[in-house]
Amino acid sequence: MEKKALVTGAKGGIGSAITQGLVDAGFKVIATYFPSGESKAKEWFKENNYSDEQVRLFPLDVTDAAYCEEALATLLQEEGNIDVLVNNAGITRDTTFKRMTKEQWHDVITTNLNSLYNVTHPLFSSMCEKGNARIINISSVNGLKGQFGQANYSAAKAGMIGFTKALAAEGARFGVTVNAIAPGYTGTPMVEAIKPEVLDSIKAEIPMKRLAAPSEVAASVAFLASDAAAYITGETLSVNGGLYMH
Ligand code: CAA
Repeated sequence: MEKKALVTGAKGGIGSAITQGLVDAGFKVIATYFPSGESKAKEWFKENNYSDEQVRLFPLDVTDAAYCEEALATLLQEEGNIDVLVNNAGITRDTTFKRMTKEQWHDVITTNLNSLYNVTHPLFSSMCEKGNARIINISSVNGLKGQFGQANYSAAKAGMIGFTKALAAEGARFGVTVNAIAPGYTGTPMVEAIKPEVLDSIKAEIPMKRLAAPSEVAASVAFLASDAAAYITGETLSVNGGLYMH
């Protein structure tokens, strides 16, 4: 039977590489994008020469629980099953905590953390019924070590790790593994938005002295999605060039 993976934020920096990695591994990828970004999503689909058998574009506002419940129920009816869910959509609103507004706090927690409920809850029961399924949450090195200017983001990314462990405990008996990946600083627009002098000082702290390539993060996702990873659950896999060892 055809294996299907749903990737949120699929056309973003890391999301795009994850999508490609899962397509290469033989999955049909349901690639979600924020509903207002339809034309950009179509461009991305075309640029990557995807076929409809490889990638299905799917609008999804991961911050809206009711929207997700309805849209994902329809998706399940149409696609039959989702074997792999990659919770990847995420944003930053970096600023020192003293200056952080309620909106900057709320936006990051809603998009990066509440989305785990919104997207996973409508799919989890069917994944348990089906068995042999995977949930992979894209956390961050900064959820593990904390980061100056990211109280909101570090809180959300650490929360993803707690969620991962709790859900791993619940999914295990059904053969549903739940793991997190904690990428370090990766060559994506999100990291390129950091002021150059700040990014230089961050790079200097990375033992490997370079950013991760998005494909290096995607390779870990493809591994955790594979049959070979069936006995790994509740784990957080760091892909950070040695920036934080735990
Ligand atoms: N530790 C201690 N002090 C620090 C510091 C650090 N890591 N970084 C900055 N400071 C100090 C500065 O030296 C400065 O001190 P002085 O006032 O004495 O000069 C003070 O804090 C203010 O720093 P900035 O000049 O940088 O302040 P700003 O208001 O212009 O910018 C900021 C604040 C936006 C948070 C900026 O520091 C920044 O962009 N930091 C990097 C945040 C970061 O790593 N974001 C990751 C984005 S990518 C991502 O999130 C993906 C992922 O998962 C890894």
